[in-house]
Parts: sequence; structure tokens; C-alpha cells
Amino acid sequence: MKLSVIGCGYLGAVHAAAMASIGHEVVGIDVDQRKIDALSKGEAPFFEPGLQEILTEGITSGNLSFTTDMAAAQGAKVHFVGVGTPQQKDGYAADLTYVNAAIDGLLPYLSEGDIVAGKSTVPVGTAALLAERVDPTGATLVWNPEFLREGWAVKDTIDPDRLVAGVPEGPTGERAAGVLREVYHPAIAKGTPFLVMDRATSELVKVSANAFLATKISFINAMAEIAEVTGADVTKLSEAIGYDERIGRQFLKSGIGFGGGCLPKDIRAFSARAEELGRGESVAFLRQVDEINLRRRERAVQLVVEGLGGSAFKKNVTVLGAAFKPHSDDIRDSPALDVAVRLHGLGAWVTVTDPAALDNARRVHPQLNYVEERDEALRGADAVIVVTEWDDYRRELDPSHAGTLVAGKVIVDGRNTLDAGAWRAAGWTYLGMGRP
Ligand code: UDX
Repeated sequence: MKLSVIGCGYLGAVHAAAMASIGHEVVGIDVDQRKIDALSKGEAPFFEPGLQEILTEGITSGNLSFTTDMAAAQGAKVHFVGVGTPQQKDGYAADLTYVNAAIDGLLPYLSEGDIVAGKSTVPVGTAALLAERVDPTGATLVWNPEFLREGWAVKDTIDPDRLVAGVPEGPTGERAAGVLREVYHPAIAKGTPFLVMDRATSELVKVSANAFLATKISFINAMAEIAEVTGADVTKLSEAIGYDERIGRQFLKSGIGFGGGCLPKDIRAFSARAEELGRGESVAFLRQVDEINLRRRERAVQLVVEGLGGSAFKKNVTVLGAAFKPHSDDIRDSPALDVAVRLHGLGAWVTVTDPAALDNARRVHPQLNYVEERDEALRGADAVIVVTEWDDYRRELDPSHAGTLVAGKVIVDGRNTLDAGAWRAAGWTYLGMGRP
């Protein structure tokens, strides 16, 4: 099928390449000429396993192209909208400028029977407003939220847990759902659930999924706070409650909390939207979820200071990690970098290392010292803190070897990812988050 994808950021670029890889003819459109130039050459604009391969494959086969010209959308049967919905600069609500601009730009090129499928995460009610502009052209506006995780984006797009289609009532909606079924045929044929619902529900599915995940992480981090004053160990607690299938083990990892381009801004936008709807109290807990999350960053800083004997001033601190999670070069709202910046604010000499995110980090926080190589970064440190659980810092970092590089054997485990016993046995002062 001929498809267009408006917006070639994380979501759009992966979606375009993934749709081409399952046999569709796809044009990706973005206003950013540099991004389009890179993608047209088959270069992935960010670190995402598997993306490079399907980009090259799509471009070589002729199934995939990129342009800044919106007119190229004309003739596509489905137009996916995957532009960003960042947090507003002066508030918690989502900034819908890019979504509105994408729809405005697309309108002149829509034909009778086309489907416009929104993928961006938007406040509930957005699709209904956009439909007022799209539906009069004879096209149909549907919502088809995306649940991809960074680091797994290609797999999550081609082979998702579930597909959600928010469609209007009646035959128009049924027809639109049918077209999306064709688009996603390979996944559906493998048994992926395809859930058809109204547009508002589909918008809510996405924000509530992210709100739930954020809540789960803050729940375990709240338990870490209690563990800290009782001598309990939150990692053991997490393991023990996680065996209950109703609770589950995933997203119960305590530490410096969540960050990234989705969870923090999505729970804030959800709170803001609920307030607008007069139901602020229904999701008031999300404010606490956010607060718990931010408190853990401060706690990690406090542990470094404690480890250094009460002050970080003019001490060498090595921060292992900058990305908001491993297998990503994304530093948007990264708890790891936030911890580094806070330590710098206390007068520490902060050295940051990361296998993928250093260029991005350097651009945003030029005040920190960046070192590519892990062992080089560790040399002379008075304290070390692990803030992103890359294998290079957990499995592959030997405490005895690390001990020969540093000036002070103090390690703070900001992700509760190290073997505390092994580090202590090698003579280190080990400090975990919510662990004795
Ligand atoms: C998230 C959702 O998982 C995805 O479904 C949605 O479409 C977009 O937002 P992503 O931002 O890629 O995806 O990151 P995710 O893997 O969810 O991790 C988010 C943050 O939570 C990371 O900073 C991670 O380190 C942290 N985290 C995750 C924890 O602190 N503990 C956990 O147990 C899990």
C-alpha cells in the first residue's frame, strides 16, 4: 500500500522504515532538511538497533523515500502523523503546534477515502478536534497510538504487543479499521490483537499505559524511600512481590527513576488535560508519581555526598551513563544527566562517560567533562556513580580492576544493578538506592 508518514523523528522515521520493510511503499516527510538528507542517504539520525538495516534496505529497494515536500503525500492511501508533542515551555500541557501544522500542511493533498492516522501521543479529545478539519475533505481521521520503546523501536513497530485503532462510528469507521488491518497484515496474521474502539478511548489507552508504567516505577521507588529508613532492601522486596503474577516483575526496578522523551511529559500532559476536563482529582496521584521520581535523583546525589564524607566540593566524581536508559543515545529528561548536573552544581569535578549519548550530552551540558573511554573516565575518581545500566558498567566492570583506577573506592549504584557483595568484597564502599 502507498503510505505517507508525516514527521521523521523517533516515531516517524522508525515507522516509515518499518512499514517499508513489510512491503509498503512509503514516503517520509519532515520540515527538517538535515534530517531528510540523512535519512535519504540511509543514515539513521539516532541510535536505534536494527534501524540502519531497514533504512538501507528500504532505500535500496525503492520502497522508501524521504522529502520535505508535503505534496509527496498526495496519492498515499494512509497518512500517518508521527510528529512530536513536547511539554509546553510554560506549563505541563502538551504543545500541539506540530500536530496542528502537520494536519494543516496535509489537508490540500488529501483525497476522498484517504485515512489520516494519528500516531503521536496527544491529550484525549485532540482527534475529535482534528477530525473537524480532516473529515470534510472526504478523508477519515483515525487514531492509531504507538507504544514503541526506545531501543526496541523496530521490533515494537513490526511486531507489537497489540494494535489499537480509534475510529469514528459507523461504516466510515469500519472501512478505516479495515484499511489499517491491511497495513498491519503481517503482525495481525501472527496473532497480534487488533483492537478497534472510538477515538477518545484510543487516545486514552496510550496516556493511561504510560501513566501506569510511570506509577509502577514510582511505587517501587516510594518503597525504596521506606526501605531507607527501616534497613530493608527494596531489591529483595521487588523480587518477592514481582513473583505475584498480578503484580509482575517488569517496571519494578528501583533507582534514580524514569526519564526520556515520553513518560515524564506524558504524565504531566495527562494531569493538565484532566484539570481542563474538571477531573484533576482523578489523576492527582500522578503529581506524586512525578515528585517521587524527581526525589530519587536528589537522593542519589545525597548518597554521593555521603560517600565522600559530607561534601562533593572539588572532588572528582565519575558518572557512568548519560542516556536516560541503556541502548539509547537519548538524553531527553535523562535522570542520569540530571544527577551529573546536580553534582556539578555542588562544586564537584564531574566526568561523564556513556557508550552512545556523549555527543548529545555535550551539546546540552557543555559545562561537564566528557570522556569516551570508561577506564579513562574512572581514573582518579574520588567517587563513582552508576546512573545508566549499560552492560559496560554492570556485567563488564570488574570491581577489582576498577579499584586500581580510582582514587577513592566509593561506588553509588543509582540503578541497583551491581552485585553489592562483590563490590564490598573488593574493598569498595557500596551505596545502593533503598538498600542497606
Ligand atoms: C516508554 C514506554 O515504555 C513506551 O511504551 C512508550 O511508547 C514510550 O515511553 P521509553 O521512553 O522508550 O518508552 O522508555 P522505557 O523503557 O519505558 O523506560 C523509561 C524510563 O524508566 C527509563 O529512564 C528507565 O530507566 C526507567 N525505568 C524503567 C525504571 O527506572 N525502572 C523500571 O523498572 C523500568
